[in-house]
Amino acid sequence: MKKIRFDDCICHTKIKDHSKIRDSILYEIFKSKSDSLNVTDAYYSDSISRLDWSLCEDLTRKWVSMFIPYFVDEITRVMGSMAYNEVELFQMWYQQYLEGGQHGWHIHGHHYTGVYYLEYPKGCSKTEVCSPFNFNKKQIDVEEGDIIVFPAHFIHRGLPNSNLRKTIISFNFDVMYTDSEDEDDTDRQCLNLKLIDKKKRNFFS
Ligand SMILES: [Fe+2]
Repeated sequence: MKKIRFDDCICHTKIKDHSKIRDSILYEIFKSKSDSLNVTDAYYSDSISRLDWSLCEDLTRKWVSMFIPYFVDEITRVMGSMAYNEVELFQMWYQQYLEGGQHGWHIHGHHYTGVYYLEYPKGCSKTEVCSPFNFNKKQIDVEEGDIIVFPAHFIHRGLPNSNLRKTIISFNFDVMYTDSEDEDDTDRQCLNLKLIDKKKRNFFS
């Protein structure tokens, strides 16, 4: 068996109006129902002081509905840059880390996942992503208000946190592979083939 190196990417951008929405979302998260996760054994090393993973499929939760318009705005741009015109969001949840809190190596369901750094004072721990090609590890340099998006099968982890509270929002979504089911909406295509064809012309010219 050989592995053929092939490009993929981690998209990194910012949520517009982060400073406008930050405190109100944090307040709703503070008021919301939460669990905690503490599992440390030979396989798992998870210590998350607050999270609402158990509710992640309910996209009508108050903090989620406050965030979704900003999320959709940026995700549309991010996925459009990779020629994907349509996505479907399945799960969204928050995770809050205190000193030493961490999330060990894991993957997600669905096609894409990512992290929005809602509360991320300088010095908080980073997200580390592992290459499936050679297991090289990359720590992603981000600042508060940033959002990263990457394929859900990339193995990644949240490194042990400093003494500064870190709150992230995570999400899982699919890219659509057939045209919209809405028959009246015949102009919508799931892939932006113009981007792909343009690159081919550049390559051969
Ligand atoms: Fe994750």
